[in-house]
Amino acid sequence: MNSDSIRRVAVVGAGTIGLSWMALFAKAGLSVTVSDPRPDVAEVVRDSMPELAKTLGSTAEELLARVTVSNSLEEAVAEADLVQENGPERLEFKQQLFVEIASAAPAHALLTSSSSGIVATLIAEKLDDAAAARMLIAHPFNPPQLMPLVEIVPGERTVESSTLSAIEFYRELGKIPVREHKEIQGFVANRLQAVVLKEAFSLVLQGVVSVEELDTAMKASLGARWATIGPFESYHLGGGPGGIRHMFAHLGGNLTDDDSGVTEADVERLITDVESTYGAGPEAYRRLAEARDRRQLAVNQAVNN
Ligand SMILES: NC(=O)c1ccc[n+]([C@@H]2O[C@H](COP(=O)([O-])OP(=O)(O)OC[C@H]3O[C@@H](n4cnc5c(N)ncnc54)[C@H](O)[C@@H]3O)[C@@H](O)[C@H]2O)c1
Repeated sequence: MNSDSIRRVAVVGAGTIGLSWMALFAKAGLSVTVSDPRPDVAEVVRDSMPELAKTLGSTAEELLARVTVSNSLEEAVAEADLVQENGPERLEFKQQLFVEIASAAPAHALLTSSSSGIVATLIAEKLDDAAAARMLIAHPFNPPQLMPLVEIVPGERTVESSTLSAIEFYRELGKIPVREHKEIQGFVANRLQAVVLKEAFSLVLQGVVSVEELDTAMKASLGARWATIGPFESYHLGGGPGGIRHMFAHLGGNLTDDDSGVTEADVERLITDVESTYGAGPEAYRRLAEARDRRQLAVNQAVNN
């Protein structure tokens, strides 16, 4: 399925994530059907739209004109080119829901799940090969209508053309798709978040800082930084013109000291990867630092408004 031919999208599950996707798809000019068994789904769709539309520079009237609330799941997906599933995060539930989706959706439809952590191979377990070939994870960050990332994670039976179409589709929506090469519970962004949250809980419970102080410290440091450069580029720049190699030589010892299982050979592999990704030496440092500073200034100005 070519992403250009995705014109009709079904949003299955109209909670926090489904409603946000719905608004974004409508803003992109797609025809959107929505399905959710809650009896007040039509009101929920209507009432949520003004705020969502405002964040997208649109109006509720304009976006609602492209949205149809369906009476059943079968009706919602019957003509869909892509189904975005946003139901409760339970394996057995999603497995059954995808059986129903696959039996009612057209044979060409891409079948995606917003799941925060359950891998596509498990969700697709009860599907035949033809349906599993079109099923994959498209995990957004909340709120999906604003946050750029969509993690694209195919399952063992997903065919490459489905993955490529999904990447193209979300990119054309203005998202930043990141394709992941192995399935792992929680995917990447939530696994990173989980590590940070664990430490945040501990620091507050130990009385080191209050909840508010911790949030302030994060926003004023790693939060602001990570909007401009990721952890690897940041570590590379932290080493000055000597880059990550210098950083590991002086500060990185504790990475291999503990029981993390990271060996000296692993460290050398990381250093080589970073140097080949970003360049090394004084000229690369100057170029990277200049780009970082420009973006950091823009972020500082934007969040201080
Ligand atoms: N909330 C987040 O921050 C976040 C971020 C990214 C991804 N996700 C994922 O998105 C999915 C939805 O999460 P949420 O936070 O929007 O949950 P939610 O509880 O707000 O919404 C779930 C919706 O699914 C509906 N539902 C129940 N059974 C259904 C069925 N048979 N068919 C269709 N809809 C049905 C419910 O009525 C409800 O409206 C989950 O898989 C979650 O892991 C959540």
